[in-house]
Amino acid sequence: MYYEDHSLLIYLVGFLTVIFILKTFLTGRWKISKEWKLPPRVPSSIPFLGSAIEFNKNPIAFLEKCANEYGDVFSFTMVGKTFTYLVGHEASAIFFNSKNDQLNAEEVYGKLMTPVIGDEVAFAVPNHIFLEQKKILKTGLNVAQFRVHVPLVEAETRDYFQRWGDRGEKDIYFAISELSIATVSHCLHGKEVRSYLDERMAHLYEELNGGISPSAWLLPSWVPLPWFIRRDRAHKAIKKIFAKAIGERKRAGSKDDFLQVLLKAKYKSGRQLNDNEVAGMLIGLLLGGHHTSSSTGAWLALFLAKHQDIQDRCYTEQITVCGKELPPITFDQLQKMELLDSCLRETLRLRPPIMTVMRMSKEPIKYKDLTIPPGHQVCVSLTVNQRVRQQWMPDPLEFKPERFLDGSADYSDKFSYVPFGGGRHRCIGENFAYMHLKTIFSVLLRKYKFHLINNNFPEVNYSSLIHSPVESLISYEPRNSIRVEENGKV
Ligand code: HEM
Repeated sequence: MYYEDHSLLIYLVGFLTVIFILKTFLTGRWKISKEWKLPPRVPSSIPFLGSAIEFNKNPIAFLEKCANEYGDVFSFTMVGKTFTYLVGHEASAIFFNSKNDQLNAEEVYGKLMTPVIGDEVAFAVPNHIFLEQKKILKTGLNVAQFRVHVPLVEAETRDYFQRWGDRGEKDIYFAISELSIATVSHCLHGKEVRSYLDERMAHLYEELNGGISPSAWLLPSWVPLPWFIRRDRAHKAIKKIFAKAIGERKRAGSKDDFLQVLLKAKYKSGRQLNDNEVAGMLIGLLLGGHHTSSSTGAWLALFLAKHQDIQDRCYTEQITVCGKELPPITFDQLQKMELLDSCLRETLRLRPPIMTVMRMSKEPIKYKDLTIPPGHQVCVSLTVNQRVRQQWMPDPLEFKPERFLDGSADYSDKFSYVPFGGGRHRCIGENFAYMHLKTIFSVLLRKYKFHLINNNFPEVNYSSLIHSPVESLISYEPRNSIRVEENGKV
């Protein structure tokens, strides 16, 4: 949901592009040695915009076509910038194994994320400090915390679906987005911040999100676009609310939750995190966990709605793992739900919410006989890597969760299955995401049987940075109207 006025944007992009080209030309910023063999270049007859139009229509189809034609490394122009894609596990290895001063993340993500998250965390600080911050976050994302989170997520989810009534039609992407702000906030921000979660707060999050838009990739963050101004205002207001919650917690004293982990944490230097850093991390966690989970949850629901047989087996699994009375969910039970786990795994293979990860090359990068020069936006498409045909036979494009159960999924090559990225920028939220989504789906499966409307499985919305469904209406009816036999069969 972006708040963009495109005419204003086009003028600004044009103006800044001229400056960019002049600057690059006059300073000779990226010198290319004649001895280097550069990656093959995808031709385009449109100057400056290059392949942008074709790419934006369907990036996956475009990248797969290029990989077939040019091999596992190729470059193309988009909006005056050179993008070089590495396809498949072998080429991707140079991406995921690189150091930050070879392939740099701050340069591509900083401009987009710093105004949203804040100036003392993540891409606004040197990478070794961010790595320390990630380590701190990881200490709080442990099994002991997850055992506490499961009942919180279950209660929030029950409350949420209570409002749905017995049967009807709902937009599942919208629903899981709305629900997961509450669940992620409750688990990771703590009770105080969760208690402030009302319409105003939801509106502030929405305005903050409006700043994560294609224009923020292209333009400096100070450009006075209306949606940048709203983003900055929302950032300040949310920080103020978090500062209040942190203050309350400090006065009330210790609680054994994730927020407390951050308040107690120290850098290697012995310095404690300051309140601005804690608040920045809280915003980062919400943004990192919320959109990715909402999109994955929506696709999982849609796949299960399409494959009624698998949906019914997932429900049967609830009974076989937890017992016929379906008591409150525990973390240990979630671990035993292998079919639901495989469905999630397969959803993340076919519809990873982050379609592409990106870095800026800071020095010549060698791959086979090719050299990627400094100044390229070097990318790996997680979606394309996870569809490479020979690794996912049979039916690589079909939803077949069994492939993860019967051992037929061959992802022994390290970078052929990468929904959570890899290397030094790898996601720290994987285990949380599994706990979170499996709990939500346990509640959903127990309560409802859900269907596609008119058997209509949605296309991917390629215009947003997180690849969500274009539409996600499902219909639902009570699960308890469906007979369960003694042996757990539906
Ligand atoms: C990084 C995916 C949930 C926090 C990443 C990356 C991917 C990813 C692909 C690598 C980005 C890159 O290399 O540029 C996902 C998916 C999720 C998910 C698919 C859920 C289905 C979460 C959650 C949290 C989180 C729940 C927080 C609790 C982070 C952080 C990074 C990260 C802190 C590190 C960024 C860096 O080092 O540059 N995630 N994520 N993610 N994710 Fe997640």
